[in-house]
Amino acid sequence: MSLPNSFRLLAADGTARTGVLETPHGVVRTPAFMPVGTAGAMKGIHWREIRESGADIVLGNTYHLMLRPTAERIAALGGLQKFTGWNGPMLTDSGGFQVMSLAKLRKVTEQGVRFKSHIDGAVLDLSPERAIEVQRLFGSDIAMQLDECVRLPASRDEVDRAMQLSLRWAERCKRAFEGAPQGHMLFGIVQGGDVAKLRRQSAAGLGEIGFHGYAIGGLAVGEPQDVMLAMIEEAAPLLPQDRPRYLMGVGTPDDMIEAVKRGIDMFDCVLPTRNGRHGHAFTRRGVINLRNARHADDPRPLDEESSWPPARSYSRAYLHHLVKAGEALGAMLLSEINIAYFQSLMAGVREAIAAGQFADFRAATKAGWAAGDL
Ligand code: GUN
Repeated sequence: MSLPNSFRLLAADGTARTGVLETPHGVVRTPAFMPVGTAGAMKGIHWREIRESGADIVLGNTYHLMLRPTAERIAALGGLQKFTGWNGPMLTDSGGFQVMSLAKLRKVTEQGVRFKSHIDGAVLDLSPERAIEVQRLFGSDIAMQLDECVRLPASRDEVDRAMQLSLRWAERCKRAFEGAPQGHMLFGIVQGGDVAKLRRQSAAGLGEIGFHGYAIGGLAVGEPQDVMLAMIEEAAPLLPQDRPRYLMGVGTPDDMIEAVKRGIDMFDCVLPTRNGRHGHAFTRRGVINLRNARHADDPRPLDEESSWPPARSYSRAYLHHLVKAGEALGAMLLSEINIAYFQSLMAGVREAIAAGQFADFRAATKAGWAAGDL
């Protein structure tokens, strides 16, 4: 039986696409960048700014939220949207990836992953069935399958084993998702490391199982950009053309432009907020490090052509001062300026694809970054 499809492609330009994904909490315009609100909050940014920046959807993490405040508590409080106050679409990652990077003493078996909480040391089990149960308790618009992502470099045998295990977990997740409320979606995740054949096997296997959408995982984990793009080129053509494709944990503006060119529709990354907290601003003229002493006496704004008011109104000298003084406002302003830049980039991408001018847009955008700061 085929799954309902709430993704509608509006236009394509080469392999780049633009479309809309309807979720129970609203419409997502694609290509879309999802800001990361790991523990049910954006670090240093109010939901209002997230919405005004042009974000349609945000990401939350099963791992963090199941530990604290717990899935059962969130469900009792009416689900993630009601609990957090973000009234739009929300995608939750399944937990496997965060267990690998954060939890102590983890053990992966056929059944699932057993780990020690990084918060209080409690021993917990996360199976494919529990990962789906937790995401259903959250009321996530889009739930992700439990998967195992191996860090690169890794041996081919190790990558193969994790990919096959992720495929078996994909089937179990799909079964556990049966009976989910209408409109809620489950995405499978392609694994296979840097091995082309394994990527193709994973993509084809997931397509046979059938999901509402498909993610490509296990990338941006230390491999060079050309390897990441080559893996997208292996997997994307084998995924059902009429379903959304999500590249997990990616990336830089350049990574996103290149991935869109190869048919990717959705992204998430901590880069705009994490780098904002470190004093870095993403702009149409590349990354500007506000810690640099050259900004100390500069009365000019970051970018007077930015669509985001704080990037036009505050002086570089003031932003430099806030960052140097460790003021929370510096991190907050740079985080929202960066999120707004990522959103304006996606808006530009969508418009360009709809107008059949993606190649020109890509070239002009890259030329702006290469030209350097104003
Ligand atoms: N986030 C970034 N990469 C991955 C991945 O491979 N799997 C999951 N579940 N989340 C991710």
